[in-house]
Amino acid sequence: MSETEKTQAPKMATGDRAILPEGARTIPVYIMGKRYEVPETLTIMKAMEYSGFKFVRGAGCRGGICGACPTVYRKAGDYKIYFGLACQTVVEPDMFLAQIPFYPANRTAYDLEEIGGEADAVHALYPEVFRCVACNNCTKACPMDVDVLAYISAVKQGDMAKAAEISFDCIQCGMCASRCMGEMPQFHIGQLVRRIYGRYIQPQAEHLKKRVEEINSGKYDKMLEDLTSMSKEKLTKLYTEREREPDLAPSGEWMPEDTQYL
Ligand code: FES
Repeated sequence: MSETEKTQAPKMATGDRAILPEGARTIPVYIMGKRYEVPETLTIMKAMEYSGFKFVRGAGCRGGICGACPTVYRKAGDYKIYFGLACQTVVEPDMFLAQIPFYPANRTAYDLEEIGGEADAVHALYPEVFRCVACNNCTKACPMDVDVLAYISAVKQGDMAKAAEISFDCIQCGMCASRCMGEMPQFHIGQLVRRIYGRYIQPQAEHLKKRVEEINSGKYDKMLEDLTSMSKEKLTKLYTEREREPDLAPSGEWMPEDTQYL
């Protein structure tokens, strides 16, 4: 994230929605070590924008999905360190917070076809999984409540399906890695495992395979060419008048009149 810090807080939030409820009470928070007064109802992200920070990095979906906004904070009089997503966590009085929008991980250039789907491939690429001391700091740091230690343990045991399932809700924020005594990038290990699961373990959907073959055979080339060369007006008309499945059609029974592209 880069930010422009202003000497005075602006009157309105500068994010996607300028929320400043009427009569909102303000509370003090400390952002990157500096004190600001912010409306108590805001999320950390909106409070930072209210305080003059501009998100160029460190914000994406604003909906708790993309993992771009992990934030670390402490509370006054509390020894604990807390983790949250800036777009989801509401500010509290005397919160001391810092954004850590990216945590480094460095082994992304692998070819799934080459490395194959065995656990050995993961162990070879990430031998540091065996440095895990089961401290569980990774799990405590996860803003998505993923049991990170459990999926890393499954990776160690070679159970890729279990590791993929447990890590499914990971949003790649990297907070687990920031606390790891074994210095491993758990979030990337989980991602590799889910890719292996999708490529080698999960049953393949036959209809999807058939559709990919059809696409590769050029079945839709002409249609795509026609659509991409169409005027906006014609496209809008086509879209508005398209044949649609009725809302209450019994499941699996409805068929469009034009079946040439099915
Ligand atoms: S901005 Fe995407 S999770 Fe917060």
